[in-house]
Amino acid sequence: MPRHFLRDDDLTPAEQAEVLDLADTLKADPYGTRTLEGPRAVAVIFEKNSTRTRFSFEVGIAQLGGHAVVVDGRAMQLGREETIEDTARVLSRYVDGVVWRTFAQERMNHFADAATVPVVNALTDEFHPCQVLADLQTIRERKGTLAGQTLTYLGDGANNMAHSLLLGGVTAGLHVRIAAPAEFHPLPWVLDLVRARAADTGGSVGVFTDPVAAVDGADVVTTDSWTSMGQENDGKDRVGPFRPFQVNSELLAKTGKDDTIVLHDLPAHRGAEITDEVIDGPASAVWDEAENRLHAQKALLVWLLSR
Ligand code: CP
Ligand code: NVA
Repeated sequence: MPRHFLRDDDLTPAEQAEVLDLADTLKADPYGTRTLEGPRAVAVIFEKNSTRTRFSFEVGIAQLGGHAVVVDGRAMQLGREETIEDTARVLSRYVDGVVWRTFAQERMNHFADAATVPVVNALTDEFHPCQVLADLQTIRERKGTLAGQTLTYLGDGANNMAHSLLLGGVTAGLHVRIAAPAEFHPLPWVLDLVRARAADTGGSVGVFTDPVAAVDGADVVTTDSWTSMGQENDGKDRVGPFRPFQVNSELLAKTGKDDTIVLHDLPAHRGAEITDEVIDGPASAVWDEAENRLHAQKALLVWLLSR
């Protein structure tokens, strides 16, 4: 059975640390590892828009000596009536790995169940685990360690980034706080997974409705779009309830620390979830974070395809 990376907790704490160490090695020497020489092929499929994920996977696979087949999923037979399972069976005969951005996590699970090569979640409605590997690499670069750091995420607490920061964060031993309007708190089944994982690592989870209380003492402050891809017409007010959760200079000052860093997975909606002053300011680590997508994903592919 191949190893997949569908959710942040598909890596044990020790395996996550191995991938992050490898990401640092690959960052120091981007062309020194040729695991995909052959070239071995990786399918990279998108059913939603992408800038970072698309470029970082395609470039990363090339740097590893491999070949990326990058396809818009809506142009595949998958977009007509071919089943997810049949697609997985066929692609497994051509490529050594599949990277897929889609909608419901359930689709990803069905694909992985039928695939005989590793499958990587490049974002679903519920999780964005590749982004969080890059976030963890960035935090460790700036802070020296991960375990024991406090990370506060503000915004939609029920979206893919909130869930993956929770699950990937506690895997690394972080104290993860989610600050969101009550109707946008993390899904209960995700919180159950997070608490179970935190019990093994010394990490912890806190869910807040008060943004000021949530950032008190935070080492890392992060946010994401208030409206995720696919939620544009879900009938919810995705502006008004989130306004108090904007990452701005006033809120950042409430951490009480002068070395708090700010992350954002991007794309940023400047003036909504984050202000220009913060994203362009001295606390911002977002461009390193975006760069680290490349290194962290290469490390993940090397790790999965070397098994
Ligand atoms: N952060 C992220 O996944 O960006 P893209 O949607 O541009 O890939
Ligand atoms: N939560 C966002 C992340 C984009 C990278 C979305 O799903 O649109």
